[in-house]
Amino acid sequence: MRNRSIFRKSVTIGLSIAAMTAGSAAMAAQNKGTVSVLNWWTSGSEAKSMNVLQQMLANEGYKMVNDAVSGGGGSNARTVLKSRIQSNNLPGAAQIKGPEIQQWCTTGLTMNIDKVAKSQHWSKILPGPVAKGMQCDGHYVAVPFNLHRINWLWINKSVLKKAGAKMPTDWDSLVAALEKLKKAGITPIAGGGDTWQVATEFDAIAIATGGADFYRKAFVDLDPDALSSDTMAKVFKRLRTIEQYEDPNGQGLSWNHDTGLVVQGKAGMQIMGDWAKGEITNDNATPGKQIACMAFPGEHSGFVYNTDSFEMFKSAHSDKSAQYAFARTALSPKFQRKFNMAKGSIPVREGVSLKGFDACAKQSKKDFTAAEKNNALVPSFSQDMAENGAVKGAIFDVIAKFYNNKNMSPEDAAKEMASQAKQAKMMSQT
Ligand code: GAL
Repeated sequence: MRNRSIFRKSVTIGLSIAAMTAGSAAMAAQNKGTVSVLNWWTSGSEAKSMNVLQQMLANEGYKMVNDAVSGGGGSNARTVLKSRIQSNNLPGAAQIKGPEIQQWCTTGLTMNIDKVAKSQHWSKILPGPVAKGMQCDGHYVAVPFNLHRINWLWINKSVLKKAGAKMPTDWDSLVAALEKLKKAGITPIAGGGDTWQVATEFDAIAIATGGADFYRKAFVDLDPDALSSDTMAKVFKRLRTIEQYEDPNGQGLSWNHDTGLVVQGKAGMQIMGDWAKGEITNDNATPGKQIACMAFPGEHSGFVYNTDSFEMFKSAHSDKSAQYAFARTALSPKFQRKFNMAKGSIPVREGVSLKGFDACAKQSKKDFTAAEKNNALVPSFSQDMAENGAVKGAIFDVIAKFYNNKNMSPEDAAKEMASQAKQAKMMSQT
């Protein structure tokens, strides 16, 4: 009798679970609206991270069309965005960062998402500078996904050991370790040589060499004295050293290919933002274990941050309801954990548990909090967080020119950076 009632109970539970599952399947199948999302996340871990959002939206009955355009750093995706505007085919959300968010507002094409921001209390759950960066004239137009750190060095521990090199702690010990790797016949640094990758390396060297005040003066304020200073010349000089430890035959390789070389032990180190961590995990290695992470070594510490964000557009090909769902889901605690674990970044939403995240993510959070307190948090110039596209382009051009021309002196490069940045700023203001 007792057994029968247990049986009946479990059948009832079973049936209601089946009914619920069928219900949510029906919900998922029903299309409550579509949002097309332009982005440049095409590496293995990036695509996986985007898939988290697509899946979560699908579970709610929304369709996310993933318009991904390859090219690390997003220059191709930006070109596609401009051409889509011309052909009146705006996406519902586009990956846009830093001051470009405010530039896009002037087109009148962006969509106000205050409704979502208010319901989720964005002004309270986001770090101050991030919340401000998502707004135009006091209204939210963009949604942030994460916090990436740029100034990282990734090291294959066993390769380093095999070469008889020690973990670097400062610039000189880094060069000593690179030399040992070279002597052991291992490519010391994996670096693809494209301008965006080189600028990312320069970014890490700059904070480690000059510190946060110097970084801010140079790349945020565009102070000509800081840009042409001896410190900037030293940053160029160090970039030359790094370049000499890269494989000349490895030029043209993508950042994720380079991360793969470090994981496979074909190269010793990579200087890259922590999206590299997404690839490391994707390749079944553990960041902080087989692949060590450390803030790029130098005389100074600090945190160069990069927040990936999506600006919302009034789009004929997306539904408002799906656009709101996109923004709302992106800042849900569940998405913040799942997405950032796959992407290599840390949650941008405050108060999200880091339980289950790797040691490097925990280090990142600790360093972010300390840098916030010590005024050592700076927006990354190489990842579009500090300046508009024209100024960034001018700075990138000088870095590329120096990297490719061994006869250019570090002092001349620093002077040229100051004059090119000034000119680009003037031009973009007229
Ligand atoms: C950056 C972006 C990162 C990462 C990287 C490489 O601009 O902020 O999230 O994806 O490009 O594609």
